[in-house]
Amino acid sequence: AEARAALGTSVVVLGHHYQREDIIKYADFRGDSYKLSKMAAQTRDTRFIVFCGVHFMAETADILTGREQSVILPNMAAGCSMADMARTDDAQDCWDQITSLFDGPGEFVPITYMNSTAAIKALCGRNGGIVCTSSNAKQAFEWAYARGRRVLFLPDQHLGRNTGVKMGMPLEDMVLWSPFRQMGGLTPDQVRRTRLILWQGHCSVHTRFTVEQISQAREKHPGVKVIVHPECTMEAVNAADMNGSTEFIARTIESAPAGSVWGIGTEINLVNRLAKENPDKTVFCLDPIVCPCATMYRIHPAYLLWVLEGLMAGLIINKISVPEPTRSEALLALERMLEVGG
Ligand code: 13P
Ligand code: SF4
Repeated sequence: AEARAALGTSVVVLGHHYQREDIIKYADFRGDSYKLSKMAAQTRDTRFIVFCGVHFMAETADILTGREQSVILPNMAAGCSMADMARTDDAQDCWDQITSLFDGPGEFVPITYMNSTAAIKALCGRNGGIVCTSSNAKQAFEWAYARGRRVLFLPDQHLGRNTGVKMGMPLEDMVLWSPFRQMGGLTPDQVRRTRLILWQGHCSVHTRFTVEQISQAREKHPGVKVIVHPECTMEAVNAADMNGSTEFIARTIESAPAGSVWGIGTEINLVNRLAKENPDKTVFCLDPIVCPCATMYRIHPAYLLWVLEGLMAGLIINKISVPEPTRSEALLALERMLEVGG
């Protein structure tokens, strides 16, 4: 608290909703990936942005901020296991293989979920594609299908499938691309016929939520409303009453009537915070086994103190720097996302 106060307005501390309480209490702003990336883009007069979240979020903030600003990730080991499921060269191989089946460009539009490397965002930027988060995936899909017949979506198969379904697309129009198999495990004909290629990636936190847990919640709490994150499986999303980004989940619970009961399918730090901040409502996690996002949890308060004390001593510790041309190409895809909104 002393370090934070001493640094004043030269620093802004951003905290993703999945951060633990001991971090969130020092955050100037909290939000989902979309809100935090917009905030980063708007903090032009702040020199240092300390991003309490995971690596892809800090990279995005670096791309969206000015050269004179520095983005700091308190612990460089705070990654995202889903983002790690799409290696940049595998994504490039996939892109080269699927586009080689067609004569001209424009048959596929690439969309990458925010949870991916800056290099994959750059691949999307230079190939007429876009970035999305869970709060604007549908808008990004609409944007893409206005420009091409087919979409390659990576790396989260579940968000991709749930968004396709939301747009009324039949499951037969979607195929799964396995990065471990020749040509993704698909035939050239399957690629030619498809409307949506889903990369075979997932979030190990959100795929824990099941239809059975939702049925049990409904049995135990008649009248319960179930809300899940769209990284959950299609079956869980379909069985829930609502789905949306972490910010959507937080806003929904905050504006719900007193006495209402909510079963939530998302990361436990957010669920526990919502339960604490909404004592007039019953808020519980659908999964009885507490499973935090292990990488978000790597932002321990000691790391936050370390980087803040570094700044007090004139040292920029754990600066995230996306090199050119990746930065400019990724920026293209991120600007398209900010234009479609969320
Ligand atoms: P949000 O954009 O909803 O905050 O999601 C980020 C994330 O990593 C969820 O697992
Ligand atoms: Fe990645 Fe899942 Fe953690 Fe989100 S909850 S940061 S998708 S591992």
